[in-house]
Amino acid sequence: MSIESASAAAYVVAALLFILALAGLSKHESAKAGNYYGIAGMAIALVATVVLAIDKDIEGLGLGLLIAAVIVGALVGLQLARTVEMTGMPELIALLHSFVGLAAVLVGWNGYLHIEAHPHGADARILEHADLLGIHSAEVFIGVFIGAVTFTGSIVANLKLSAKMKSAPLVLPGKNFINLGALVLFAALTVWFVIDPSLWLLIVVTIVALALGWHLVASIGGGDMPVVVSMLNSYSGWAAAASGFLLNNNLLIIVGALVGSSGAYLSYIMCTAMNRSFISVIAGGFGIEAGPSEDTDYGEHRETNAEDVADLLTHAKSVIITPGYGMAVAQAQYGVAQLTSKLRDKGIEVRFGIHPVAGRLPGHMNVLLAEAKVPYDIVLELDEINDDFDDTTVVLVIGANDTVNPAAAEDPSSPIAGMPVLTVWNAENVVVFKRSMASGYAGVQNPLFFRENSQMLFGDAKDRVEDILRAL
Ligand code: TAP
Repeated sequence: MSIESASAAAYVVAALLFILALAGLSKHESAKAGNYYGIAGMAIALVATVVLAIDKDIEGLGLGLLIAAVIVGALVGLQLARTVEMTGMPELIALLHSFVGLAAVLVGWNGYLHIEAHPHGADARILEHADLLGIHSAEVFIGVFIGAVTFTGSIVANLKLSAKMKSAPLVLPGKNFINLGALVLFAALTVWFVIDPSLWLLIVVTIVALALGWHLVASIGGGDMPVVVSMLNSYSGWAAAASGFLLNNNLLIIVGALVGSSGAYLSYIMCTAMNRSFISVIAGGFGIEAGPSEDTDYGEHRETNAEDVADLLTHAKSVIITPGYGMAVAQAQYGVAQLTSKLRDKGIEVRFGIHPVAGRLPGHMNVLLAEAKVPYDIVLELDEINDDFDDTTVVLVIGANDTVNPAAAEDPSSPIAGMPVLTVWNAENVVVFKRSMASGYAGVQNPLFFRENSQMLFGDAKDRVEDILRAL
């Protein structure tokens, strides 16, 4: 068997493993196996690609560079995976998407320099002879465009998620026309480039796409960032597929299409969960206008302490805990699990209400609670628990903010208006664990803190939970 057919067979196996990985990752129980399938698929794909490259055309310095790149990449990846906190995952993922985008841009440019820039070279003549030169040019142009949008879009997402850039949406005058104009320009330039491929057109489309990617993501506000990250995931898949066409690599096309379509589907599911229009989000906040500035006076908030909360809990009939990003930051899940079992031992009903975008990544709270061995059957989704707050004695809001904000349900001018939230304010008592009166990720004030049945328990969530445990 030739190296070429062996690597084609390896690619088929790798593609199947990637499909199994995606299927596995869709459920808690099979997620671990899904990860292993993914690792196996990637290892096979890497080995097959390196062997194929050695067999085909690289030797000497090229081979040395390839091996060095694999080793450096593996070391950086291992180090990142070991050191990244779970709360830092989304920003790391955004950064990784930017690499895929950049790679697609470089592959596209390389394609141009190799073929279109040498119209009298052997490869260009073969393509022209087979009437394929135009298709190659279109692949170059589209690949560079998608790659560059993904590259800068992902960098902005990384900056927003790591709080190095304000999460509020950038609202330039006529922002929808800017986006639409860039798309029309891209379509026109693609036709031009296919007819007459020239370097300056490639430079222009690269600049337009870099600016568009930046603007698209900068225009999307804090609360919608989860959708943006999965949308960029999808874009990075399509960028990889475009590179696959250029490099004539079937596996890259398959994997790119898998990532592209599953990312698009995840974005759609998240938009539905967040009551957001899919089109509006992929079009850079199309149709979303900035709300009025926040100058509402909600009155005074009430403060409480750990002893009083312990007392409140001891006399409660039912308790719902709604965790959020702050529980992850404080790593309070172990204390929360202990508190849960202590209260359950006293015969108090304790359940968890999980918002679909609580924390910073899908399933963030579920993973933390599972890690702390909280039983699955008392961890409920928003839809399952939202009607039960009326009959609840105490709600403990542990480091959550946007996901329990009544403004989303009651104030149509709020930037998070329409987003489903946990209706904690319907309970008899609400205790909010946080360190200050600061707003949540979306940068919106939370009227919950000023309600008559709400009390603030200030401090690090882990410390306060431990104080309550001691007082109990
Ligand atoms: P957030 O609205 O982010 O609020 C978290 C709260 O935790 C903050 O108000 C903060 O207040 C408090 N906090 C931080 N560290 C703490 C600590 N050590 N101890 C106690 N409290 C602490 O949380 P959320 O309700 O989970 O909402 C998630 C937000 O992130 C949504 O806007 C969502 O759209 C966005 N987002 C979600 C995802 C996904 S997929 N889940 C991805 C990206 C963005 P203090 O500073 O006053 O302590």
